[in-house]
Amino acid sequence: MNKFYKKGAEAELTQVKYLEKKALSKKRIVKSYRDEKLDFSIRKKRVRSEAKIIRALAPIIKVPEIYLVDEKKCEIIMEFINGKMLKEIIEKKPGLATKAGEQIKKIHEQDIIHGDLTTSNILVDGEELCFIDFGLGYFSQKIEDKATDLIVFKKTFNATHSSLTMGWELVMKGYNPSEEMKKRMEVIEKRARYH
Ligand SMILES: Nc1ncnc2c1ncn2[C@@H]1O[C@H](COP(=O)(O)OP(=O)(O)O)[C@@H](O)[C@H]1O
Ligand SMILES: [Mg+2]
Repeated sequence: MNKFYKKGAEAELTQVKYLEKKALSKKRIVKSYRDEKLDFSIRKKRVRSEAKIIRALAPIIKVPEIYLVDEKKCEIIMEFINGKMLKEIIEKKPGLATKAGEQIKKIHEQDIIHGDLTTSNILVDGEELCFIDFGLGYFSQKIEDKATDLIVFKKTFNATHSSLTMGWELVMKGYNPSEEMKKRMEVIEKRARYH
């Protein structure tokens, strides 16, 4: 009945039913190289903060609805989003890059840092974007943290979508960064180049 869906480095995803609804279970995988107690506390913390961030963003942008959080099992059961990863369709619909930028801005306006922005962590349902995978997310007001979030995205974005003309500029058009943010991003990029 439960359908195995995907297994990543950190989590195992299974398609399940929750109160008759199509749902997805995301369970944090045990890392046996870590001390057992420490491993459990790390996984529990991630699950807790992922659920907290998704709930905080629910009134602001489209995120999967959280159905259940089981801290003991390190599991979140959430709405199953029908659709593809942005990665798979951005080349056909480059306008979605601008939309992604607009929504990342909204996330940052809530003082939330995603922590792992990639076009695999944004799902597309019709014309709507749905942000997922907030396991590395955290709350911060710092412009440095927001700029770093964007630089992480920029790096993987340019590497994954190198043939997309104006690709990153389209994201920035949506984000509409302040002068301060532009400068901070430049500083971080320069720093990275010389290290
Ligand atoms: N709520 C969801 N609905 C549908 N598919 C999902 C959902 N959450 C995750 N996925 C799929 O599973 C993949 C891995 O999930 P993700 O939360 O990104 O975990 P990981 O930490 O392993 O990257 C995603 O790239 C996406 O394809
Ligand atoms: Mg992911």
